[in-house]
Amino acid sequence: MVTVLSPRPDLWTLDPDLLHLNHGSYGAVPRRTQELLAALRAETEANPMRWFRSVAERLTAGRLELASFLRTDPAGFALVSNASAGVTAALATVPIPPGSRIVLTNHAYGAVRYAAERFARANQAEVVMVDVPLEADDDSVLATLEAALDDRTAALVVDQISSATAMVFPIRRIADLCRSRGIPSIVDGAHAPALLDAPAEDGADFWTGNFHKWPAAPRATAGFVVAEKWRTATLPLIVSWSEHDERLPERFDQQGTADYAPWIAAPESLRVLAELEWPRRRSELSAMIDEGARVVAKAVGTSVAEVAHPAATMRLVELPFDGIPSPEAGEAFKTKVSRDLKAEITLTAFDTRVFVRLSAHAYNSPQDYRRLAELLPTLL
Ligand SMILES: Cc1ncc(COP(=O)(O)O)c(C=O)c1O
Repeated sequence: MVTVLSPRPDLWTLDPDLLHLNHGSYGAVPRRTQELLAALRAETEANPMRWFRSVAERLTAGRLELASFLRTDPAGFALVSNASAGVTAALATVPIPPGSRIVLTNHAYGAVRYAAERFARANQAEVVMVDVPLEADDDSVLATLEAALDDRTAALVVDQISSATAMVFPIRRIADLCRSRGIPSIVDGAHAPALLDAPAEDGADFWTGNFHKWPAAPRATAGFVVAEKWRTATLPLIVSWSEHDERLPERFDQQGTADYAPWIAAPESLRVLAELEWPRRRSELSAMIDEGARVVAKAVGTSVAEVAHPAATMRLVELPFDGIPSPEAGEAFKTKVSRDLKAEITLTAFDTRVFVRLSAHAYNSPQDYRRLAELLPTLL
């Protein structure tokens, strides 16, 4: 007999009246990790000097646990505050000669695109955006990217799981392609930890991913994995006392006076996932959101986006809108959903299509999607 794992909202502290269907943006931290974090902060304030003397050792222990969760070599795994910092540090490392091109896709996260634009501007280089259709399968993603790479390409920046389209990219094949062409690959794996089993092991030159999304770690906890050949050259964005440390992870451990408690508390969330039987739960959540997204799509008279490889726990439901007139209009709609429906979703736009991006985590149940299906049509 197949047993189904029961939803565990009791492990979180989300408002019971809230329909939280957007774990993908900022995550949500389980109660146990919140309590540990609060205890660490209380310890800091009891004796800041003693706390900061203890940080290095505790942070090393936490970092090693996070590396092991990703199944990656700890010697190439550093902590950063977020995926934005990881991508920025990678772009600051790769040579970007004048006249060269940084290649991104039209699925790239907006702030990552801004980072590429900043480095392109600073180096008299340019950003090239490659269009990858929403329905593209792995072969056509590869063919499209291959056609966009040339002798002038300084780096390819590519999502592992895109934000706007919740699509899984074939990173191993993309990294192989880049390596065969001598082009550094920078993988934005912001959504990958806990959604993919060994997301940093596909052979990219640089990979970054957030623990504060799907692993439900405290915010400002992200990983940055650097291939061996780049480890000496890769520097943290903030110059601090570890500047001359030859070891990559340790060089990133000190970022001036900062709140290191989230990095130290983060492994507690990994233990929560383990207790939730995460890999099995994740496949159950996939089945649940497949069905839930269909229910919502039916209610609004549209369909679920056909993505070749959707992210395990996110789905896009098309809205019957003709584009979003402005970013402000998009924000206003989300605020209305939040205020009037007491539901949190995010809107994404791709080409001219507008979608609600829904998520599923261990605190959600099938009833959540049925409730959204009842409520959402009232705002359309
Ligand atoms: C694909 C992708 N890249 C980068 C980021 C940026 O993550 P952070 O805000 O943690 O830097 C996000 C955040 O949602 C994302 O979805």
